[in-house]
Amino acid sequence: MPKQEKPLVIVAHPMPEDWIAPLYEHTRVVVGPADRPGIDPSLAPYFPQVEGLLTWLSDPVTEDLLAQMPRLKVVSNYAVGVDNIDLAACTRRGIPVGHTPGILTEAVADLTWALILAVARNIVQAVEDARAGKWGMWSPTGWLGADLHGKTLGIVGMGQIGQAVARRGLGFGMKVLYTSRTPKPQVEAEMGARRVSLETLLAESDVVSLHVPLTPETRGMMGEAQLRRMKSTAYLINMARGKVVDTDALVRALREGWIAGAGLDVTDPEPLPPEHPLYRLPNCVITPHIGSAARETRKRMALLACENLLLGLEGKPLRHCANPDVYG
Ligand code: DGY
Repeated sequence: MPKQEKPLVIVAHPMPEDWIAPLYEHTRVVVGPADRPGIDPSLAPYFPQVEGLLTWLSDPVTEDLLAQMPRLKVVSNYAVGVDNIDLAACTRRGIPVGHTPGILTEAVADLTWALILAVARNIVQAVEDARAGKWGMWSPTGWLGADLHGKTLGIVGMGQIGQAVARRGLGFGMKVLYTSRTPKPQVEAEMGARRVSLETLLAESDVVSLHVPLTPETRGMMGEAQLRRMKSTAYLINMARGKVVDTDALVRALREGWIAGAGLDVTDPEPLPPEHPLYRLPNCVITPHIGSAARETRKRMALLACENLLLGLEGKPLRHCANPDVYG
């Protein structure tokens, strides 16, 4: 009997070989280039044969791309967010979409707190000043920031990451408010957290931390009206997606003191160009989408993305599927 060829898989961009070793073992792997987002056109000759696609969060998977891949059985996104993928188009074609929830929860919650502390305690400015020889004499009013103990942490989107951030907030002695489509009785019992409307959360929180997926409902949900509703002493943290916040309104909010500061791991656009006004604002700390960038986390994400992809190639249910409707 002729030996069956291994299925062809496109990995959109280079990844450490040991992170995607299971793919090398069970499939023929073609790796795209590193230098720009998206499935590179140089991979087009492989499209007619490709059966599995491993994407990054910066790779749009559109109806048009899918139409060029008639044998595609599975898309596996190396991220928990799947806003780069036309899920409906995948579902129509019977293609399950894998993603990586759970694994990056704690790493993202850690970075959320790094940003909260950085912006509330002026850490970046203080470090820059010390390096620049502007330390001077110790002074009671030097680099004054905000107390967090006893304040209110508002979690917008109480999923796994929101909960991990809230749990850390309790350790900092903060009270927790949250918004969520559904009540979370176990979270309320465990943390004494209170579910409120977004309006109430914005008006009462000292730190507002965003952890919602980007969907038509959440796109632009933090616009001028919402930013103006926040306390002028409050901080906004965005760990979700840049497009959840209206960037122009945020620039004005930070410049004109509607809010005290912002910590952003995600921006709109991404990457944020170096000339962007947000970088010029001393009350804004920006990290380049590194929420999950912890070594073990990123490797575990890759292994889960491989597992999802291999299960999809075998026609088995994925471990984490973002369009479960595909299974009818
Ligand atoms: C995700 O997974 O969606 C994060 O934004 C990056 O790890």
